Amino acid sequence: MVATPHGGQLTPRSVSKEQAQKLKETYPKAPVIEVTENTFADIEMFAVGAMAPLTGFVGKADYDSIIDNIRLTNGLVWPFPIVLAADQDTATAAQTVGAILLTFQGSEIALVEVEEVYEPDLERETTSVFGTNDASHPGVQYVQGLPEKRLAGPVHTFELPEQLYQDHRLTPAQTRSEFEKRGWETVVAFQTRNPIHRAHEYLTKVALEGVDGLIIHPLVGATKPGDIPADIRVQCYEIMMEKYYNPKRVLLAMFPAAMRYAGPREAIFHALTRKNYGCSHFIVGRDHAGVGDYYGTYDAQDIFNQFSFDDLGIHILKFEHSFYCTRTQQMATAKTTASSPEERIFLSGTKVREMLDNGQRPPEEFTRPEVADLLIQAYAKA
Ligand code: ADX
Repeated sequence: MVATPHGGQLTPRSVSKEQAQKLKETYPKAPVIEVTENTFADIEMFAVGAMAPLTGFVGKADYDSIIDNIRLTNGLVWPFPIVLAADQDTATAAQTVGAILLTFQGSEIALVEVEEVYEPDLERETTSVFGTNDASHPGVQYVQGLPEKRLAGPVHTFELPEQLYQDHRLTPAQTRSEFEKRGWETVVAFQTRNPIHRAHEYLTKVALEGVDGLIIHPLVGATKPGDIPADIRVQCYEIMMEKYYNPKRVLLAMFPAAMRYAGPREAIFHALTRKNYGCSHFIVGRDHAGVGDYYGTYDAQDIFNQFSFDDLGIHILKFEHSFYCTRTQQMATAKTTASSPEERIFLSGTKVREMLDNGQRPPEEFTRPEVADLLIQAYAKA
């Protein structure tokens, strides 16, 4: 039996072509807005049921409860409000009509039945969710740049425009059936927004030793400028799957969410949504979903201490900062080697991007050579 979804059941929000037509006929005067890449990612998450227990954009009571208590008003753990933003005029029109139609890159992607319109409390929201209201934090900047109103209500998603690596975008129902087919009862999920480096490989393999299967589940929704684009990363994941993992025990699938860079709160989101994909375990390493120096190295691990297993329904596997140890000639953490600091090779993602920008090859202690080749080629073209 794979893990039960958050709240008890998956909540896929996609409707048939006929239902979509009917909804549009019911609300012929619904205003139309073109959504951001981030909202498109939320819509894709809603479509496949990955947002369970949410069935739509949250109202003010849940918004407040999430911000203050990391829980929905029904008590379920939920880390940040999933919201739809619009300007005053559009919000008023949507509220009068009872619905709003969303487009992305010109295609109609969803209709939201608008039950409530409210104003967010941005200062409180960003301080709670991101731990800062500094406008140079990319998540804060995004939220602060949204139009002034929030529209809440159930989402009905239409056929979505095809995205990159569509055939790797397995829905929660599909990953669950794949796990069952493979006879995996315990599955550990690995979230990443980077190519798989040696440290990632170490965490995932150590974790896999204790469970039946591993899902490498890279986030492919919107990311900030400077992050390595998903299409380049996916080529790296494929090489790793071919050469360095055991495909009988590892599944590669894409996670459609957008990054928020909310560190600890985002680690909760990443874990709960992976439970929706059927996973029993989730990896949280150093500075999970972090950016700059906004979070402490282990803040995203410590936040889980305030919840019971019943609250979360997924086991959190916490890993210390891992590095290449020249004394033992393998990946290690401070737990597994007694080497001195000079014997430890740490490379940050930022440092590696700098090396790539300068046409330098990241060393083998940091990344597998095939991945280094791909990254160098991609950077040379850019
Ligand atoms: S994240 O935004 O998806 O967290 P990243 O792709 O860098 O970014 O990390 C993926 C996962 O690996 C996260 O759980 C992160 O904490 C962990 N991680 C990355 N590098 C290391 C490392 N050197 N040591 C321990 N954990 C790491």
